[in-house]
Order: sequence, then structure tokens, then C-alpha cells
Amino acid sequence: MAVPLTILTDPRRAEARRELAIAAGTSILAAAHAADIDITATCGGRGRCTSCRVKFVAGAIPPPTIGDEVQLGDALVREGYRLACQCAPTEAVTVQVAPPLEETAFQILGAGTGVAGRVSIASGVDKQLVKVALPREEHHQTSDVEQLAAAVGAAVSEVPPGVLTGLPQSLRDDPAGVTVTTFAGRILAVERGDTTSMRFGLAIDVGTTTVVTTLLELTSGEQLASISSLNPQSVFGGDLMSRIAFAQFNPANLRKLQMRILGLLNQQVSEVCRASGVLPRWIYKVVIVGNTCMHHVLLGIDPSWVGLAPYAPVMRHALTLSARELFLKITPEARVCLLPLVAGFVGADAVAVTLATRLYDGDIERIAVDIGTNGEVLLGSARRLWACSAPAGPAFEGGQIRHGMRAALGAIDRVTVDDDLHVHTIGEADPLGICGSGLLDLVAGLLEAGALDWTGLIQAERRDALPPRLRDRVQMRGEERLVVVRRAGEAGASREIVLTQDDVRQLQLAKGAIASGVAMLQHVAGVPAERVGELLLAGGFGNYLSIASAVRIGLIPELGPGRVRYVGNAASLGAQLCLLSESERARAEAIAGRIEHVSLAAHPDFEQIFVDCMNFPRP
Ligand code: FES
Repeated sequence: MAVPLTILTDPRRAEARRELAIAAGTSILAAAHAADIDITATCGGRGRCTSCRVKFVAGAIPPPTIGDEVQLGDALVREGYRLACQCAPTEAVTVQVAPPLEETAFQILGAGTGVAGRVSIASGVDKQLVKVALPREEHHQTSDVEQLAAAVGAAVSEVPPGVLTGLPQSLRDDPAGVTVTTFAGRILAVERGDTTSMRFGLAIDVGTTTVVTTLLELTSGEQLASISSLNPQSVFGGDLMSRIAFAQFNPANLRKLQMRILGLLNQQVSEVCRASGVLPRWIYKVVIVGNTCMHHVLLGIDPSWVGLAPYAPVMRHALTLSARELFLKITPEARVCLLPLVAGFVGADAVAVTLATRLYDGDIERIAVDIGTNGEVLLGSARRLWACSAPAGPAFEGGQIRHGMRAALGAIDRVTVDDDLHVHTIGEADPLGICGSGLLDLVAGLLEAGALDWTGLIQAERRDALPPRLRDRVQMRGEERLVVVRRAGEAGASREIVLTQDDVRQLQLAKGAIASGVAMLQHVAGVPAERVGELLLAGGFGNYLSIASAVRIGLIPELGPGRVRYVGNAASLGAQLCLLSESERARAEAIAGRIEHVSLAAHPDFEQIFVDCMNFPRP
């Protein structure tokens, strides 16, 4: 499907514009160059400079990439700037090419962060080629390690046994010297020859349902490959409580869960390496984020008490260990950094979201909602930060919905309702089922049309008031109320696809969990909607939900135009920031100490707020 793209080539002359229709997946830079529109690409479109920056002036602004965050910085990202080479629009947008420098400068200053708002890359992984002067005389009271440390120059505090075993041979084999990799004074690897330009790392987001692994080059921040897979622990329980129940006081089951996730991580490592041509032994740093239960299980820590009141985690502090200890098949001494946790149900993923969205900064309170099976809601500013868990369950990812599916080829991802139901599928393929964003549109459209009432009841008795084509879709089959979204054979559907009354109830539970989390944090923090500067939607939720539908069903509060923004997988982005920058990792640790956990169930007002949030807003 062609995506309309308007490029304003000169902001001072409104007529200087070009209207293009580009193929989905084409970057703005590639589209502009194909149409002979000049956009400077100093680094050749690799996301390593800022020359191709464009500003979004109409249409949905896509979530920032790590390249946007690193090169442009948060202030410009918030202003709607993106790197044209990293951005492929999926819906109609208008962008302005390289706005004048004065305007940019003003906006940077206006946002109060200065150029320092940009992330400077300093991953902590250093590599240098050294020629080690080996001991020659017997009376030289020295050793290979001491000579190596002398050659490296910087303080070496630790040489792990795994490095020592191969050291004598490596030092004597190659007359050109050896490449020594260090991290925080610790030698991670000694390699023959010059491998100084090979420096890679992984950012891993272990979600209850989805696991995302991203391979980055540690000098430029370039993203080389990314892979998203279903968490294979799901067969032992879809949500955290069932996963904890499976492992509770049962070491064999805990081991099963741990082996499942470790197996998947190693599979993902080999896939990103294969896709990029990077060798696993060139990966020296890993940053992992995940909720508390995923964190504990990954480390083989018993999560039993996380599932029992008062839901205390076994540990909350940041932890760094070697890849060898986690059985990760990369450089054995690579450093694997786990970000700190906040509480039993507010984990390192929430810390990463806070970091990536810069929620900890600025005077105005903002809200970040990480939508997932075990989502979190965060509210705060530079003054204070609050967080609560919002266990939405798997409905937004197509789970526990009769014809639900993940956002994959053939999933109905957009629905409009007028006198009938109209659907769009991912890849324009024949419809197979409904993913989260389609489900939201469908329910919002049915509410608007009067086929659903505000309590969520499918209006089978009142279907005669609906337009004929829509009326025929609203049915009562025996005791079951349902809406036929696609009949077998209709628009290529190989089977009937329906929305049942139970599906609507599942969606109500899911959206109620999130909406009540938002409402409770606003209540506890004393921040009414008019004082909320911005609401940021995070999470790999389908192909970007429709904000209008999210407001219509009451998933998020009505804040007015321009105050809700989709920020993509912010947990993964936060992990990537910590991978590329040690100061960002230190900041994540400081943030974790500032977040105040709000326990919803323990709050006397929660029950009423949750019941209210289960219903849909009345028209
Ligand atoms: S061309 Fe350099 S970042 Fe896009």
C-alpha cells in the first residue's frame, strides 16, 4: 500500500512542497532521493549524523529510534524531529526538511536541555591493540598478566580466570600484538591481532509475552539487527501470577522457566549475529531489562515471595555478572548488566521506560503507560516519580480473545464502523484474526454506532435500530451475544471472525487495569488531567493503536489534541541507552531509587476507581 508523504523543501515558501506516494517500509531519505529532493546524508544514511533531520509537521510522529535519541537528543525528539534515514512512515505525514539552524537552536534552548540533551556514547567497553613485552630473563620477577597490564596502561583491577587460560598462547602467537578489551578496569578478552573495530553489545527486553533483543555497534550506536519473539515460558502460564504459581516452591519448575528463557536468548543472539555478520565473541556488553518476575527467573532466583503479600522482591539493586554465569553464548567474560528493580510488580522495564521517556526531567507532570501483559503506569516530573503495576493481561496482544492474534501478517489492525464494518489487515493479507489495535478500533466503533452500550453489553435486542448491514452482524446465537466481523469467505477470510461478549469483557478488564492505574496515580499525586503535560504510550502494542479509539473506550483519559504520543518500545530503548552510555546506566540506577511505588490493591479508593474504569465512557 502506498503511503502519502509530503515533504516541505523550504519552510519559508509554503509552495515549495512535494507530494509523494511511497511504498511502506521506505525511509523518508530514500523516498526523497528517489524523487530528486535534496536531503543531506553526510553519514550515508546510517543514523550516525544529524544532517538528514526532518521535522514532522502533520500526521502521527513515529516513535523515536535509538539513532534519533543518540544523535538528536530528547529535546529535539520531543519537538518532532527525526532522522529521515531511520524513519519509514506507515501513514500519511508531512515533514519539513532541515529547518533553519536558528529555529533549531531556539527550540533546543527553549526546551531547557541544551545540546547536552544529546546522549554521548561511552559504553565503557574499551579496546586497544597492544604489543606486550614478554618476560625474557629468568631473573625478571614478572608475569604475563603484569606485562599485559603495563601494556594496557590503564588501571587493570581484574583478569578473570577465563581470560587467563588462553593468555600465554595469545600473547606469544601474534607478533602484531593482541587486542585487549576492558570494562571498568576488568579485562574481558585478549584476542590475537587487531579487532579494535569490532565492538558490539545487546539490549534485551524480557517481557512476560514478548522478548526483544537488539544488536548495536558500541562506537556509533548503529542498530544492526533486532528480533522480537514470543516468550517461550508462556506455555507455563500467560501472565505473571500463573508463571509464579508454576515455579512456586518448586525448584524443578523454576529451572524449566529459566532454561526456556536462556534458550531463547541464545537463539536470538545467534539470529541477530547471523543477520548482521557479527561474531558472538565480539559482543562485550549486554543490558537486560524486564519485570521483577522475569528478572528473578532469568537469574534462577525463586520468585515465590513476589507472588505472595507483601510481594517483596528478593533483590532490587542493579547487578552485573558475566555472560558465562548466565550461559549466554557470547564472549564468556562479557558484562551482563541488569538494571535495578522498584518493587515486586514494578521492575527494571519501568525504570528503562522512565529513562527513555525522560519522565524524571522537566517541571510538568507527564504520564507514561507501558501497555503489556504486565504493564506499568508512571507519573512524574523532576520533582517526584510514582509508579504502579497495571496487569492488563494478554488481551491487547490478542490473547484470551476468541479470534485474537498478535500483530502479524493477516491480523485485522484497523477497523472503521459506519453503516457496516470495514477492516484493514497487516500486509493487506486475507484476514486471519484481530490484533490489539484492531480490537480497540472495533470496540470504539461499535460503541459509537450504538451496537455496544457503556456497560459493554452487545446490543442484540436493540439491533433493529442499527443500519441494516451492521444489524446483520450483531447476533444472538443461543445464549451468546456476538458481532460477526468477517463471515467465512468475506474479503478473503477463510473462516468466520467474531467478537464475542466474553471478548468485550476481556478488553474491559484489560483497559480497566490500565485506566485505573492512570487514575490512581493522578489521585495519589494530586495531578488532575488539566495539569498532565503529556501522556506517552509505550509498548510493542500491535501496529500502533489509534489514540482516538484508546480515548473512546476510556483506556486513556481525554487530554486534548497533541498531548498523547506513542513512544514505541520504550523499555527496549531505555536498555539501548544504558548499553551505549554508562552515564545513562548510572542515571537509571538513580531513577530507580526515586520512583515511589503505589500499591493499588492496598489503597482504599482503588476498588471504586477500578469498577468505574471497567465501564466505557458514556457518549
Ligand atoms: S544521513 Fe546521517 S543520520 Fe541520516
